[in-house]
Amino acid sequence: MSIIFDKTNQVFLLNTISSSYIIKIFANQYILHYGWFPKIDEWNDMFAAPVTGRAMSPNPEIFEGKLDFSLDTQPQEFSGAGITDFRNSSIEIKSENGTIATDLIFKSYRILKGKPQIPGLPATYSLKNEEADTLEIDFMDPLTEVTVILSYTVWKNYNAICRHTVVKNTGKYDICLEKVMSCNVDFCGSRYKMLQLSGAHARERHPVFRKLVPGNQGIESKRTASSLQQNPFIALMDYDASETRGNVYGFNLVYSGNFYANVEVDQFNMSRVQLGINPFNFEWKIKPEEEFYTPEAVMVYSQNGLGEMSRTFHDLYRNHLCRGKWQYKERPIVINNWEATYFNFNAEKLFKLADEASSAGIELFVLDDGWFGKRNDDTSSLGDWFENKEKLPGGLAEISDGIHKRGLKFGLWFEPEMVSPDSNLFRNHPDWCLHIEGRSSSLSRHQLMLDLSRNEVVDYLYERLYSIITENKIDYVKWDFNRSGTEVGSGTATAAEQMKVSHKYYLGLYNLMEKITSALPDVLFESCSSGGGRYDPGMLYYMPQAWTSDNTDGISRLAIQAGSTIAYPASSMSCHVSAVPNHQTGRQTFLAERGHTAMAGTFGYELDLNKLNPVELKEIKDQVEIYKTIRKTVQFGDYYRLENPWTESSDAEITDFTAWNIVSKDKNQAVFTIVWNYPEANAPADIIKLQGLDESKKYKLTCPQSKTIREFFRLYSPFPMPEAAFYPFENDIVVSGDLLMKCGLQIPYRPHFGSSIQIILNAL
Ligand code: GLA
Repeated sequence: MSIIFDKTNQVFLLNTISSSYIIKIFANQYILHYGWFPKIDEWNDMFAAPVTGRAMSPNPEIFEGKLDFSLDTQPQEFSGAGITDFRNSSIEIKSENGTIATDLIFKSYRILKGKPQIPGLPATYSLKNEEADTLEIDFMDPLTEVTVILSYTVWKNYNAICRHTVVKNTGKYDICLEKVMSCNVDFCGSRYKMLQLSGAHARERHPVFRKLVPGNQGIESKRTASSLQQNPFIALMDYDASETRGNVYGFNLVYSGNFYANVEVDQFNMSRVQLGINPFNFEWKIKPEEEFYTPEAVMVYSQNGLGEMSRTFHDLYRNHLCRGKWQYKERPIVINNWEATYFNFNAEKLFKLADEASSAGIELFVLDDGWFGKRNDDTSSLGDWFENKEKLPGGLAEISDGIHKRGLKFGLWFEPEMVSPDSNLFRNHPDWCLHIEGRSSSLSRHQLMLDLSRNEVVDYLYERLYSIITENKIDYVKWDFNRSGTEVGSGTATAAEQMKVSHKYYLGLYNLMEKITSALPDVLFESCSSGGGRYDPGMLYYMPQAWTSDNTDGISRLAIQAGSTIAYPASSMSCHVSAVPNHQTGRQTFLAERGHTAMAGTFGYELDLNKLNPVELKEIKDQVEIYKTIRKTVQFGDYYRLENPWTESSDAEITDFTAWNIVSKDKNQAVFTIVWNYPEANAPADIIKLQGLDESKKYKLTCPQSKTIREFFRLYSPFPMPEAAFYPFENDIVVSGDLLMKCGLQIPYRPHFGSSIQIILNAL
């Protein structure tokens, strides 16, 4: 049982594999938080925050002046509003009388086996009751008689707790929810660094670290999408925590819309972490007997640094968030025509590209934007999901057949949630887009967002997608979303319902994705949003992989990808090799480097193969062959960030090299990669220690890039592996996991084979 109730102390111990999260029922009234620690066997109240009177902290009337108790001085599980706690509230309920003060008085609790799902929302799931236990705590606000339920699922095999909140109107009058968080965790102390994943289009998920200071610090999105700019993830880390050391607490919201993630450090240096739907443009009226469910917050604890936290997120998401046939299936190697042709293609060009792809061993051909309506640039046709017969006279069927005949699977791009003003859909249904009556609607990339809070819009999209996909034997869908929401309002909502629209949009989208993905279980879905603008766990529930970034530069990708692996598994991270000079940065990099970097996730190409010379085509063929031998390890193994492309002091500062090691679950294979961000002349000596290997196993090291791995080690790494350096094989050396992890590899001061090296380790 991972949830223990200690009756004497009136305390719940929520025990994961190696952590304990302590919840206290205080005076049978309030629910306090007593800490989140490495696992303990029993609790003693002497370790709790003392209940002593503090100047300027008022006492709730409920104690009739007998106790120096104030919610303002106590770490809580979920904070009310306008009562005796002046910090950020977890919930604000506007009652019939127009006030928002909300008091939460403990009523009861239940412990359930397994994990209940959250209606209409994506969330982690457990298929077997033994995998998790769930604690539900009920509160009631005495005035409105509204019931608030906190739900905690405690995972047996992960250091993870998943939380969400339910608000039930058990009172007599309508109420209006102004704010409701998915989780609230009050830490005693503020000596933490906060980590966030921030950026912009083509520069997503760059880790940024800052020390907590008194007051509020946080991130949010008001863009009607989780966003390119901020990912719905934050972590608190000990000051000296690193990839391998220290306490780290990670928080991730399973939601793709407007979110809020904040840490408030109070007057006593307690730190309140909150994640939930952004209160901006949110208001939810609840009639008696109705209820509201928040999205889920996933909370992960690691005692051994950021790396372990990441691997917990990866395993939890791969095993208990991703679903369907593709959950554990190795993902195909892609050729995508976007950077190869942009809008300028015809059947002949596509087939020529497919011919080269097929002879290189590539497995899936993706036809990107431009196959529908009259779309020859980005100014028209979104919404008209009918094939463009002018561009493709034989229609999609001809393309699909031609691609399949060449031995490739066939994938198609859609941007279902959008509409171009220049489209038949818009001309026929001008009010199907999000808009506010009387205001002009702002365009972004010449397009508007459809109003997915309306069922008829969802139905139209379902019909169009289902028909195109089934009629043309589509094997894969790239589901794009290329603008942020403005003038968010609905033509059908009453004034009282307009502030529901941003969230109802996501309920509509999730409903659509649930229907289409379950109707088409064989199709592999990849989400995309101008690159990684909705790279969040909400999307992962429906689509097991995401386009990581529109920036395909082999060096820019180092930070974007390593940043993505902070919370998301490599199986979700779609990475393509593109042309040089790179279309986003103009940078020239070696084809080998682009390949090595893209092989950190689900792999593919996005360039015109017909423009390459035979040597390059051969190299691509080799890369494809190599990836096939390591893809299971890469996509489903354990990811170790050995050297990151960022420093903690400044996002702009870049380290000399980036290195990672991905190890298969059985530890029989590992893929070690090092990329020089800026190859330096006569660089200082450095050693890199591998992680995650089996110390008792012997590994054969192969550097596919070089036929002379032995020469490579003789030249660059004679120390500390004499055994290895003189091993009498031409291409392969054998060395123990023990040595590789303890002694490490000497970093070559001059990258001999380009600016990257990939070494594949296979256990003997
Ligand atoms: C977005 C995507 C790209 C590509 C284009 C097509 O920018 O991120 O990969 O599909 O749209 O318009």
